[in-house]
Amino acid sequence: SRQIKLAVIPGDGIGPEVVAEAVKVLGAATVADDVEFALTWFSLGATRFLETGDVLTDDDLGAIAAHDAILLGAVGGVPGDPRLANANIERGLLLRLRFSLDHYVNLRPSVLFPGVPSPLAAPGNVDFVVVREGTEGPYVGNGGAIRQGTAHEVANEVSVNTAFGVERVVRYAFEVARGRAAKHLTLVHKTNVLVFAGGLWQRIVTTVAAEYPDVTVDYLHVDAATIFLVSNPSRFDVIVTDNLFGDILTDLAAAISGGIGLAASGNINPDGRFPSMFEPVHGSAPDIAGKQLADPTAAILSVALLLDHLGLTDAAARVRDAVVADIAARTENGAFTASRGTSAVGDAIVTRMTDKGLQ
Ligand code: NAD
Ligand code: IPM
Ligand code: MN
Repeated sequence: SRQIKLAVIPGDGIGPEVVAEAVKVLGAATVADDVEFALTWFSLGATRFLETGDVLTDDDLGAIAAHDAILLGAVGGVPGDPRLANANIERGLLLRLRFSLDHYVNLRPSVLFPGVPSPLAAPGNVDFVVVREGTEGPYVGNGGAIRQGTAHEVANEVSVNTAFGVERVVRYAFEVARGRAAKHLTLVHKTNVLVFAGGLWQRIVTTVAAEYPDVTVDYLHVDAATIFLVSNPSRFDVIVTDNLFGDILTDLAAAISGGIGLAASGNINPDGRFPSMFEPVHGSAPDIAGKQLADPTAAILSVALLLDHLGLTDAAARVRDAVVADIAARTENGAFTASRGTSAVGDAIVTRMTDKGLQ
């Protein structure tokens, strides 16, 4: 049978709680397939840092890179914890993984499943995917400060956009659009102000569009995109955008499609040179950690993205179907109830899948 080496990084806070359910679901989804997952658990995050002072050692990185894929819960401690002030876990761990493993596509689908309440009065059919660039933009750490701490401080954080980096993520977004029913791509940027980076993105989208006559293309400034995400989200199919705009838009996208407890993501290296990494969009939620209050659905839907990436599309569909059924069952008398504990949700999803898959 096919052996798949999976690195698992549960992380901090609710990370280990939701990852436990995701791993359960992964096993149940693939019992009928001729595959065998070999899991290696990596203890990384704020907890590890407080114990050892390590954030992500070169050895950790090398060991993780030797896997076929990565499943991550969430990392990070309580915001403002003074012991973590200089740990820089987000940059030193999460971004280091994304950059070192060349996760240039950050894939973040938004689907408003039947029965899920939306804060929007008339959301319509919400089913779009954000293709967020993952290795460039303002995230690269190309900055510095002078006269720090004085009244004359100057702090720069310079966005890096390369033709190579933009073109590869734009091409990926066109491929995603081509594979969908609506075949529509929206570039989101701020070309009216960020003329250099925006101009590069716009030119590359226009050039690549010529190779995809079946895909319709439009453009929105990022500020206007936030209006339409709230006023008319069904106008979106595929959004391609830079790292920071994509970060902000995908939290908004999660909010309009059932909340952060349902939002999944994949950090993808489409070349297959490095393992791709799948994780819920949410963080470690220290406010609810250790209480079995976290919704594991975002982590479970991230497993579906992982299975798709590995070519196990039937197993991915089994996970999604079970999640959709579980979500529908949460809606009683028109009211969405999410009062079960973390492992109860995972168990319910596993039960739906095994009942269906083993008959
Ligand atoms: P957060 O996403 O952890 O929490 C925001 C709010 O959403 C909280 O009220 C939390 O209880 C709730 N929430 C999050 N996930 C939930 C779930 N599955 N079910 C139910 N409720 C859920 O964001 P934050 O509070 O800004 O960050 C906490 C820590 O996580 C910080 O250290 C931050 O840097 C880190 N973080 C990590 C990642 C990651 O690992 N990918 C992403 C974002 C934030
Ligand atoms: C996310 C998170 C990360 C990001 C942080 C924790 C570095 O917000 O995955 O959306 O900004 O990409
Ligand atoms: Mn974010």
